Order: sequence, then C-alpha cells, then structure tokens
Amino acid sequence: MKILGIDTSCDDTCISLVEIRNSKFEIRSNVVSSQVKLHAKYGGVYPSLAKREHRRNLAPVLKKALEEARLLNSKFKNQNAKIDAIGVTVGPGLEPCLWQGVNFAKDLAKKLKRPLIPVNHIEAHIVANFISSNFQFPISNFQTVLPAACLVVSGGHTQLVLMKGIGKYKLIGETRDDAAGECFDKVARILGLGYPGGPAIDEQAAKFKILNLKFKIVLPRPMIYQKNYDFSFSGLKTAVLYDFRSRSPKIQKSKIYIQEMAKEVQQAIIDVLIKKTIRAAKNYKAKTIILGGGVAASEELRRQFQKTCLTLHVKQLVPPKNLCTDNAVMVAMTAYFHRKEKFNLPEIKANANLKI
Ligand code: KG4
Ligand code: ZN
Repeated sequence: MKILGIDTSCDDTCISLVEIRNSKFEIRSNVVSSQVKLHAKYGGVYPSLAKREHRRNLAPVLKKALEEARLLNSKFKNQNAKIDAIGVTVGPGLEPCLWQGVNFAKDLAKKLKRPLIPVNHIEAHIVANFISSNFQFPISNFQTVLPAACLVVSGGHTQLVLMKGIGKYKLIGETRDDAAGECFDKVARILGLGYPGGPAIDEQAAKFKILNLKFKIVLPRPMIYQKNYDFSFSGLKTAVLYDFRSRSPKIQKSKIYIQEMAKEVQQAIIDVLIKKTIRAAKNYKAKTIILGGGVAASEELRRQFQKTCLTLHVKQLVPPKNLCTDNAVMVAMTAYFHRKEKFNLPEIKANANLKI
C-alpha cells in the first residue's frame, strides 16, 4: 500500500510517499521545503509568515513528491488508484501552520476518495526510529524494544514519553518553559550565529579545543538533580545572556569565546537530557532508550548518548539525521500504524496543544 504523509507543523513544508510491500517500507519520496532563509532574518519562526509559505508551497511540494515517487506520469486525477491513504500532522505545532496542512490534506482526501489519518507529531518523531536509512527495509520488529523511554527534543518540545506500544504512551516529563532546541536557537541568536541555532552551536562547539580554554564559563544544569522528569531551559539561556553582556565587545565577537560558550551550553543541555532520560529508563524498567526530534540530529548528543548507553548496557535507538528533523516520512509511517482505526473526515482538526 502507498501512504502519502503531510507535515506543516512548523516552518518546513514536508510531503512524502511511503510504500509498504511484503512487510517492507520503501521511501519513494521525501520532500522537505525549508523556510530557513526566510525566518533567518527574524532569528526564529514567524507563524503568520510560515503559514503563508505553506499555502504557497503545498501544491508544488506535492507535485515534486509524486514526481520523485514516479507517480505523476499521467494526470493527477488518475492517482487515486495509486495512493491508498493520507496521513497528516494535526498537532502539536503552530496552529496557523497546522491548519494549512490539515485543510490541504482534507481536500486531497475528498478528491481522491481516500481515508485521511490524523497524526500526532510527537508520536511521529518516535516512530521515525522504526525506519532504517537504506530505503528498502523490513518493518522493524519494534515490539522487542518496548517498553521504551523516548526523549523527543525539538524546537517546540522536550518530552520524556514511556512507550508500551503504538498508541500506548505515557507522558512522564516535559519542559516547563523553553524546549531544548529553542534554547539552542536563542543562544545562537545571542552569539550572532543565525537560525536555526542547533546546527550552528554544534558546529562552533566542535571547533572548541581544550587548549583554548580561557574564559572558564560554567553554566547551570537546570533541574538535573530533581527527582521528576521535567526540564527547564529558559534559565540557561538567561545565564548565557548575562555572561555575554559581562564581556567586552571584542571578546563577544572573538572565535574562542563563541566556541567555548557553544561547547558549554551544548554540554549543559546534553548533561540534563542524558541524566533524566537514563533515570527514567531505569525507574520505568525500559528496555530501550529512543531519541527523536531535530535536536537528536546533533552529532555530539548522539555520540554521548551512545557512549552512556553502551557503558550502562542499555539499548539505544536514534533515527538517521534527516529523519530526526521534521519530515513527512515519519508521518506516513505513523499513519500506516493507525490505518485500521476509523476517522470521520469533518471531525479532523488541527490542535496546536495536542498531547501524546
Ligand atoms: O523537530 P524539528 O525539525 O522541528 C520541531 O518540531 O520543532 O526541530 C527543530 C529544532 C531547532 O530548534 C534546531 O535548532 C534543532 O532542532 N536542531 C539541532 C540540530 N539540527 C536541528 N539541534 C542541535 N544540533 C543539530 N544538529
Ligand atoms: Zn518536529
């Protein structure tokens, strides 16, 4: 069967076609139209601008996704025989952006007379772990890795979720203020590194050399010793701002200061994420730690999680980098897992605060 996935939860217009044949998934297309350049001017995502871009992008992105999947060799009206179902992200995310994708998907589902499956974006980030990177792959026997402690870290969310099966989730902790990715983005803005901040901080931190250690910056590890599974990153950003303001303009612009600050803020975030996730895995007797979301694309975060999990003999999963950041492959996959549930088209709505 062929499933079309659509995601417009934030600033990327994503459409993908996934085919499932003989218990194997094939990613026939994965189109991500990024609005990074547009939002870079503002140092973050501007919802009304993002909504306008989604409206403009959705039709061409669909065309590209169908072309890549080699489904557009005849007229689109003939494609209804080729697409079996459509999955669309209904939340959580930016409300005006979500509605663009939801309305587009509803129209398409009506036109093609195919079922529309509403998808939770957080669940999709988790499900991205059951896809392997080599395009033709068996549906992972993911039951063997459950229960799993899932850490979803993105620009909008930092959540710890206990997964017992598809649709069986328990939110055990989340950020009380900024998400980890949001912290990266805000710190990058302070340091003049542009948007999105995560990859920029990653790059600067990788350039830091211990021999250059000069400023001895020590940032807090918020809530690290608290016994709950919640997070808080807004104080960390404020601590960066105070340190930055205490420096001379010359130091603020110097490479070694920026690299040292990037390294320290990255390590502070990684320390908190690892500590809380490991504790959750132990306390909930999870067999596996699962990562997902844009921040899980961080090279250093992946390396340190892997090292810690190896030392503690805990199994760990993380999607390939392009399936950590927003994409619609994970949406199509999640829709596949929910394909047998019945949904009433008029009742499908965007919900910015949808819970897992
Ligand atoms: O999952 P995602 O693409 O969108 C949301 O659902 O929010 O995550 C975007 C976030 C941004 O905050 C971005 O700075 C961060 O993921 N990010 C990274 C990296 N790539 C993207 N953070 C750290 N290291 C990266 N390599
Ligand atoms: Zn996301």
